[in-house]
Amino acid sequence: MIKVGIIGATGYTGAELIKLIFNHPEAKLSIITSKTFEGQPISDVFPIFNNIINNKCQHLDVDAISEQADIIFLCLPHKISMEYVPQFFKNGVKVIDLSADYRFNNVACYESAYQEHTSKELFEFSAYGLSEIYKNEIKNSKIIGNPGCYPTSFLLPMIPLVKEKIIETDFIISDSKSGVSGAGRSASLATHFCETNESFKPYMIDNHRHIPEMEEKLTENAGKEIKITFVPHLLPITRGMLTTIYTNIKGKITRTDIEEIFHNYYKKKFFIRLLQKGNYPDILSVKGTNFCDIGFHKNEDSGRLIIVSAIDNLLKGAAGQAVQNMNIIFNLEEYTGLNKI
Ligand SMILES: NC(=O)c1ccc[n+]([C@@H]2O[C@H](COP(=O)([O-])OP(=O)(O)OC[C@H]3O[C@@H](n4cnc5c(N)ncnc54)[C@H](OP(=O)(O)O)[C@@H]3O)[C@@H](O)[C@H]2O)c1
Repeated sequence: MIKVGIIGATGYTGAELIKLIFNHPEAKLSIITSKTFEGQPISDVFPIFNNIINNKCQHLDVDAISEQADIIFLCLPHKISMEYVPQFFKNGVKVIDLSADYRFNNVACYESAYQEHTSKELFEFSAYGLSEIYKNEIKNSKIIGNPGCYPTSFLLPMIPLVKEKIIETDFIISDSKSGVSGAGRSASLATHFCETNESFKPYMIDNHRHIPEMEEKLTENAGKEIKITFVPHLLPITRGMLTTIYTNIKGKITRTDIEEIFHNYYKKKFFIRLLQKGNYPDILSVKGTNFCDIGFHKNEDSGRLIIVSAIDNLLKGAAGQAVQNMNIIFNLEEYTGLNKI
């Protein structure tokens, strides 16, 4: 059995990971940590675990945790993660970090969106955890920078298209909508029930910190610099994410050509579901799963391509993809522990 540690287990992604690891046939929950709830059973924080999971939240002592776990999931805010990752790395424990701290190759890119990085020398040992695209790198890396939820929903449909050079890369607009759990569990006015319920609004237009992550990965895969327009929105739902992408097709590429490209990249990928012509993804069909559903419409007159993807931000956008990456690292089927509804 793989011994798992979850650091920051009392947040939304931490709670999802506890459930996934509890139900995983090849892994067991070895240790969980919390600063605020140290010493208390996790069922005090999330009563859903009462009578099922009674692990107590431990102090975040890296050396003690390293002895009890084969792999660590860090579910901490960015900047806090990089305080702990170097010591886990030194202790030889594999790390899957759900924050942004190890998602980048270019430190300037990270620092433009976040803050000064204190362990950029570890970037050469880290892989970007977009499972379907970077499987080999994930397998061979000691640190996995698990992708952001918006980047996951955007990059999965877009990377095949830029790699195959079939779209005009100077025009890419991503219009994304996320459930409120995307902002984490801490209370804030912006995510207060009365501020979000029965409302719908954009935020951080063209200024969201996931833009450098999406641009870096798209640029790497296209082999040329790409800039995007990205508009995130807050949906009055707890979980789920729907992304609509607008771009233009080059020359005489047909719908069948695009279908073939998606098919070639994803036909063997369990968690990507390609929808038939006239069908489009919706949040309800992916909620509670690790799937990314993708559908598209091509306007035959204008050459405009409109792609829609849907994920559960807490699963394929965070904890689910993190477990998929653990499965890759330990040579298990990618869907182990993730193929339940
Ligand atoms: N929510 C999503 O949909 C989503 C998707 C993709 C990626 N992510 C990323 O995943 C990470 C976790 O997100 P989340 O939504 O689970 O956040 P969250 O609900 O706010 O939980 C954060 C966790 O971090 C712990 N924590 C906070 N400050 C800490 C500190 N200074 N030292 C030690 N522990 C600290 C908190 O625990 P205690 O207070 O109990 O110590 C809590 O368990 C973030 O980096 C986020 O950007 C989130």
